[in-house]
Amino acid sequence: MGLQWGDEGKGKVVDVLTPRYDAVARFQGGPNAGHTLEFDGGKYILRSIPSGVFQGHCNVIGNGVVIDPVLFRAEAEELERGGLDLKKRLQISRKAHLIMPTHRLLDAAQEAAKGDSKVGTTGKGIGPAYTDKTARAGLRVGDTERADFRASYEKARQRHLAMLGRPGAQVGPVEVEKEWFEAVEYLKQYTFIDSEYAINGLLDAEKSVLAEGAQGTLLDVDFGSYPFVTSSNTVCAGACTGLGVAPRRIGEVFGIFKAYCTRVGAGPFPTELFDETAQKMREIGREFGSVTGRERRCGWLDLVALKYAIMLNGVTQLIMMKGDVMNDFETVKICTSYEGSDGVPYDLGASKPIYKEFEGWRADLRAHATYESLPVQFKKYVEFIEHETGVPIRIISTGPDRAQTIIR
Ligand code: GDP
Ligand code: IMO
Ligand code: MG
Repeated sequence: MGLQWGDEGKGKVVDVLTPRYDAVARFQGGPNAGHTLEFDGGKYILRSIPSGVFQGHCNVIGNGVVIDPVLFRAEAEELERGGLDLKKRLQISRKAHLIMPTHRLLDAAQEAAKGDSKVGTTGKGIGPAYTDKTARAGLRVGDTERADFRASYEKARQRHLAMLGRPGAQVGPVEVEKEWFEAVEYLKQYTFIDSEYAINGLLDAEKSVLAEGAQGTLLDVDFGSYPFVTSSNTVCAGACTGLGVAPRRIGEVFGIFKAYCTRVGAGPFPTELFDETAQKMREIGREFGSVTGRERRCGWLDLVALKYAIMLNGVTQLIMMKGDVMNDFETVKICTSYEGSDGVPYDLGASKPIYKEFEGWRADLRAHATYESLPVQFKKYVEFIEHETGVPIRIISTGPDRAQTIIR
């Protein structure tokens, strides 16, 4: 689970943990996600495909995910060109919803209509696709095998065009829809499954499943900084509905956070910095969106928000990423409370953070392979977070590469 505003490093962690699991499953989100993996000198960005594909043989896209066939095809074909037998490694839920070309048009139109209060979405049609799902009007992966699929598509398309005030119009150049239908044919080369049966079957057979979150808790549609959120439940409960797994079957919950904070798009961010410290975080941490290339907003670690995320997800183990980005900082700060508030308030935008200052570690964390050998100032930082949250930090990531990982 991502505990902040996304981009915590979920992809890297899932890749690292995959060899310990029998299956890896994505349960929500869609191509708005960008999960970066680095190993053996290569760099890979996954959007809809689970981050277990490189090291794991059983990967699932669950019912809670929304799939854009065109983006899926581009992503999958690149992996296939790299020699991965993806069609053997990946199975897709029949109940996952499809993102249509008109969902993207609706996403853009809704953002334009919001003007100054726009969300700053990734423009991938995520909101409109989930809207159709809850409005009971969406197209699902399983529908592509039905004889009336074209007719259902046509109906949805006309409805969308009417919403756009363009009834009867074309959806851009004819190639757009041609490409979409070709991509649907490509998608059909994968095994479609009733993933709720597959996942529960694995658990019944005492196999382990790693559920991979997308986005982060503060982008959750219920608990995030609404309305500046995504359109799915990014918290742990989303894994139950997005895979068909009962709450009591959830075991460990890994909560992933950066040693500082970032956010892409609009919305409140109490610890955001606008000075050269933010600039340094952005440059050293390469904080540019992996999907849209946008600059990520940067700021200090927010413990109030982190505790909130830990509570909502029932986190049992923490994983801290990117401490190495602050290797040469003189001082490092953590927001320990907001003025006049006990937790994350309804109006997060009005929050004024109160900070505790720490001496920087001024050493290269990447030079260390064990927790014990890490600089004492860094360990103070880690242990303060553990003490305040009451949750152990079991994994510390000290660089983007798979190998730059300390497991305690
Ligand atoms: P995700 O969306 O949660 O999977 O995260 P992203 O992949 O969007 O963003 C995390 C970025 O940080 C990627 O560029 C990773 O390669 C990089 N990264 C992950 N862990 C570390 C780390 O410990 N140190 C540094 N410097 N970079 C990291
Ligand atoms: P990963 O999985 C960071 C943000 C967008 C925007 C808001 C809504 O890589 O952590 P959407 O397109 O979902 O309707 O946009 O959510 N957002 C993300 N920010 N990481 C992500 O995914 C994100 N997915 C969506 O920037 O503010
Ligand atoms: Mg990302």
